[in-house]
Amino acid sequence: MHYFHYVGDKLYCEGVAVESLVKKYGTPLYIYSQRTLTEHFQKLDRALSSLDHLICFAMKSNSNQAVLRTLGNLGSGFDIVSEGELRRAMAAGADPGKCVFAGVGKTEGEIEFALKQGVYSFNVESEPELARINRIAARLKKIAPVAVRVNPNVDAKTHAKITTGTYENKFGIAFEEIEAVYARAAKLKNLRLRGFQMHIGSQLTSVQPFEQAVRKVLPLVQRLKAKHGLEFFSIGGGLGIVYDLALESGSAEWWQSAKAKSILTPALYAARLAPLLKPLGLRILMEPGRFISGNAGILVTRIEYVKRTGKKNFLIVDAAMNDLIRPAFYEAYHEIVPLRRKGGQLISSDVVGPICESGDFFAKDRPLPRVGEGDCLALLSAGAYGFVMASNYNTRSLVAEVLVNGKKYAIVRERQPVKEIWAGEKIAPWQK
Ligand code: LLP
Repeated sequence: MHYFHYVGDKLYCEGVAVESLVKKYGTPLYIYSQRTLTEHFQKLDRALSSLDHLICFAMKSNSNQAVLRTLGNLGSGFDIVSEGELRRAMAAGADPGKCVFAGVGKTEGEIEFALKQGVYSFNVESEPELARINRIAARLKKIAPVAVRVNPNVDAKTHAKITTGTYENKFGIAFEEIEAVYARAAKLKNLRLRGFQMHIGSQLTSVQPFEQAVRKVLPLVQRLKAKHGLEFFSIGGGLGIVYDLALESGSAEWWQSAKAKSILTPALYAARLAPLLKPLGLRILMEPGRFISGNAGILVTRIEYVKRTGKKNFLIVDAAMNDLIRPAFYEAYHEIVPLRRKGGQLISSDVVGPICESGDFFAKDRPLPRVGEGDCLALLSAGAYGFVMASNYNTRSLVAEVLVNGKKYAIVRERQPVKEIWAGEKIAPWQK
C-alpha cells in the first residue's frame, strides 16, 4: 500500500506531481510519502492491538529527521544501533525511554551515553557485552535494563546477507545456551533482566519462519519470565514488502494488486502470532523497518544518455549505486516507472549509473517503455535502506530528500554541496 500513482499520464506522490518536485529540486531525488509512512505504522499498530505492545521503528532503514518525527508523533519508539542513531532520534524529539539499543559491537562510550539517557533496554548479543554493561552501570551507579537476544537457529528463507537467525550468523546467543546465560546475568548486580529479544532476518515474505521461531522460544520465554520477572518480549522486525508491484493508475487499483501479491500482511502476521504471544502476559515489542518505510519512498533519476550496443539498450541515469546500493549489493529488484507514462512497445533495457563499475546498475534486461535523454524514471520501494546506505563514492554528493503530505511538500534534506565531501580532509604537514 502506498501513495505513488498516476493521474493521467503523470506520476504523483499523494497530491503532488513528482515532475514539479524534480523541477524544483533536481535529480537524483528521494521522495517520501508521509501518508504511506503513517498508514503502514497504523496498520501494524492496529493489528497488534490485542496485545500490550510497542512498535520501535528500526531507524537504520530510514533515519531522516522528518521520517522519525512522523513516526514519533504516532507514538512509535525506535530501534537504534549506535550512539549516532540515539542522538539523531533525540534530535527528532524521540523519548529515549522508548528506544531499544541493538547491535553486536556496542562500545563503552555508546553504552555510557545510552545508559545516561535512559534507554528502555539494551538488546545484548554476547556475554562479554553483558559484563561490559554491568561494569559501566556500576561505575555510573545505575541499573541497566537488558534483554538478551536469542539466536533460535531458524532459517528465515531470505537473502543470505540479511538472514540473522541461524548459527552461521554473528547475532544473538544460541538457543541451547540462553537459559544459562540469563542465570549468570542474574548475578550481575547492576543489570535488570527486563526482556527477551529475537530477530531472525529481514525481508521475510512468509509468516511461517516467524511462527516457527516464536513457537520454538515460547516455553523458554515462559520459564525466563517466571525466574527473572521479565517485562517484555521483542519479536524483532523483518516483515517483507512487495517490491515487484506494477504501477496502476489510482491507489485503489494499487492496493488490490498489492493485496493480491502480498504474502505477508500485518493482519496475517498478527493472526498467527498474537494468539501465541498473548498468554505470555508480556509486553510485546516489534522492530519493523522496511515494512514502514520501504514502499513510502522513491528515488527519482534522470536519463543522461541512451546507449545502444549490439546486445543491449542501456539507459544511463544520473543516480548510481552510491545513492541506492540494494541492486548492486543484494541483486535486489526495484520496480522502475517513468514519471510520464508512455504507451507503445516495451524495450528490454539495462538501467545503469555513471560509476565506473559493472555492479553500478538498477535493472538488467528490464522491459521498459521507450524513453529518451532527459526523461525521468522513478525507482520504487526505495524508502528503506536507500538514502541511509548512500555514500560519497566517486565524490558524488548525497542527494536531496523531500517529504510530501497531501498537497504539501518540503525539502527535508538539502543536496550536499560538493565541497562538503572533502571538507574534513587535510593535506599532511610534509606535503605543504
Ligand atoms: N531489528 C534488528 C535487530 C535488525 O537487525 C533489523 C534489521 C531490524 C530490526 C529491521 O529489519 P526490517 O524490518 O527492516 O527487515 N540493508 C538490508 C537490510 C538489513 C537489515 C538489518 N537489520 C536491505 O537493504 O535489504
